[in-house]
Amino acid sequence: MREYNVALIPGDGIGPETIREGKKVLEAAGERYGFRLNWHTYDLGGERYLKTGEVMPDSVLEELKSFQAIYLGAIGHPRVKPGILEQGILLKTRFALDLYINLRPIKLFPGVECPLKDKGPEHIDYIVVRENTEGLYAGSGGCLRQNTVHEVALQESVNTYMGVERCLRFAFELATTRARRKLTLCGKTNVLTYAFGLWERVFRDMASEFPSVETDYTHVDATCMWMIKSPEWFDVIVTDNMFGDIITDLGAITQGGLGIAAGGNINPHGVSMFEPIGGSAPKYTGQEKANPVAAILAGQMMLDNLGEAEAARAVEDAVARVLPRMASQSAGRMGMTTSQVGDSMAREVS
Ligand code: IPM
Ligand code: MN
Repeated sequence: MREYNVALIPGDGIGPETIREGKKVLEAAGERYGFRLNWHTYDLGGERYLKTGEVMPDSVLEELKSFQAIYLGAIGHPRVKPGILEQGILLKTRFALDLYINLRPIKLFPGVECPLKDKGPEHIDYIVVRENTEGLYAGSGGCLRQNTVHEVALQESVNTYMGVERCLRFAFELATTRARRKLTLCGKTNVLTYAFGLWERVFRDMASEFPSVETDYTHVDATCMWMIKSPEWFDVIVTDNMFGDIITDLGAITQGGLGIAAGGNINPHGVSMFEPIGGSAPKYTGQEKANPVAAILAGQMMLDNLGEAEAARAVEDAVARVLPRMASQSAGRMGMTTSQVGDSMAREVS
């Protein structure tokens, strides 16, 4: 029997209950397709921090590297100052494990309500490749004379040739595996001339290595407009860390909201971490109201990454079959409890 050791970080708020449903569905897939998932749970998150002052001990960070994947629920606690947990857990792991790709599919499943007029599943099926270790997230900058009227705050976008190259290469390679083979670079070459000058040059050069991929460029502001007006134009979008963060929330709402949107923080040569892209939604904690689909789809991406492509497809099919039976994708309005959604999807996989 194939076995996978997976680190489980349920985290805060609705993290534990949605990840519990994800586990349920993945285990059902394991039974059906002949593999076992050995979970190792870490109690990282707001509660541990409030109790012990620990956010992410170095020893845990080291241990995380020894797993085949990491499955994370949500991070963010109402009694902890914003930034401490996000930076200390999520961003720290992305950097320490060099998870340089954040892969976020924007796919509208049949039966899911879409806020875009006249757009359906045939129009919304693309994937965003977000650079995940550089840009404005690199922590470069500082401040002078803080808390005075003479305060100076600097926060710089770091773009290295190495970082840009490996991200673009991943995106080009991904584009070759898709039916439409189209790759759009999303940037801001008209203003951020240094940063996106580099991105655009490397993008152009690399395009000649991938003659089967059609390439395109759009500024980030226009990208937002096209994602609403003509989402069918997109197949694979590649962009930097900050723009990727922003456009994927916009994309998420076009695919039914944060209750559905999942992503993978990928190190193509190492351990990767899978998570719903939404937050911990503290007000719904423990009420059986949260939508576990994002967690289940994050699990589906994890199975694919582990090499269980057939099981991953089965999970996606199960999700697709149950979604139309849900009244809505919003928390508390699903017409089903969190567990019922997980149960139905697990049943469909078995
Ligand atoms: C995301 C989140 C994080 C990010 C936050 C919580 C640090 O918004 O995964 O998109 O900005 O990357
Ligand atoms: Mn975000």
